[in-house]
Amino acid sequence: MTRPRVLSGIQPTGPGAHLGNYLGAVRNWAVMQDENDCFFFIANLHSLTVTPDPAFLRERTRGALAELLAMGLDPARSTVFAQSHVHEHPELAWVLGCLTGFGEASRMTQFKDKGGGSVGFFFYPVLQAADILMYQADAVPVGEDQRQHLELTRDLAQRFNSRYGETFTVPAAYAQRPAARIKDLQEPSRKMSKSIGGNGTIWVLDEPTVLVKKVKSAVTDTGREVRAADDKPGVTNLLTILSTATGKEVTELEKTYDGKGYGDFKADVADALVEMFAPVRERYAELVADPSYLDTVLAEGAAKARAVAVTTMSTVRERIGLLAPQ
Ligand code: TYM
Repeated sequence: MTRPRVLSGIQPTGPGAHLGNYLGAVRNWAVMQDENDCFFFIANLHSLTVTPDPAFLRERTRGALAELLAMGLDPARSTVFAQSHVHEHPELAWVLGCLTGFGEASRMTQFKDKGGGSVGFFFYPVLQAADILMYQADAVPVGEDQRQHLELTRDLAQRFNSRYGETFTVPAAYAQRPAARIKDLQEPSRKMSKSIGGNGTIWVLDEPTVLVKKVKSAVTDTGREVRAADDKPGVTNLLTILSTATGKEVTELEKTYDGKGYGDFKADVADALVEMFAPVRERYAELVADPSYLDTVLAEGAAKARAVAVTTMSTVRERIGLLAPQ
């Protein structure tokens, strides 16, 4: 029996991966490697939407790979690659873009929230759909913030298939636990994000002292009970984090902290995160010291990914009527 195909990606934007990327996505990817045929990539073309400094982008692409491997991705079991190394992605994005309505793309909340920006930013979800459909992915493990992009991908796959004949696997709809949305520690009304940074974002590679300080200064709510509730977004976020990090249910944690104050609770959250990330930090330091190994991983991953992408694109070109060179 063939194993289900799983695909997901992460942008190398900002200083690194954060707690939301880890708990909402990458930690699940590592687990999925056992039973699935996995493709994981660094979305460096998507990162161009924020026009990063070229030297920084180059360095961060290797750094993102080192982080992914340190967080548990295994290039012996999964195909791990850089998006820009497979030139078929933007080609398929163009094809899909011609099937995407202007209004449809305008409704994407990530675009609307930014209030405009470049054409690249507008086109971003179409490129994401191309990333996914290229590999005939059955499942796409992402955080809640990517749900709408996955819906667009499903719509485009169905549209292409009904117009040109069965070509693409329609990936499963978004289905993840609620913990797939980690909030900013300083402003728990918004998601933790690479672009906000500051004390509200915990980086996977934060020094333990920095991490502890960030958790201690996290915004809490009035009252002193450790309880998940709509009017306690700060405490609820910390409970989600502790629950996801330790595997304990939120209700169980509420009982544990019954009668205790925020201080004990925060100390335990910080301890759990320091412990969770200690092996990641250690492994990262080893990996990043060996850029030629990282380049080899990227080259091998690109070769494996390209083999699939070339097949998909030749079918697509044939279906839509692009004449092959004779
Ligand atoms: P990116 O780089 O923003 O985030 C990578 C993954 O982390 C998840 N995530 C979160 N989960 C929980 N809480 C948060 N605060 C949080 N912030 C981020 C994201 O949902 C994501 O799973 N567009 C994608 C990259 C991409 C992609 C793809 C993903 C490009 N092509 C194809 C899947 C398939 C992005 O910006 O992820």
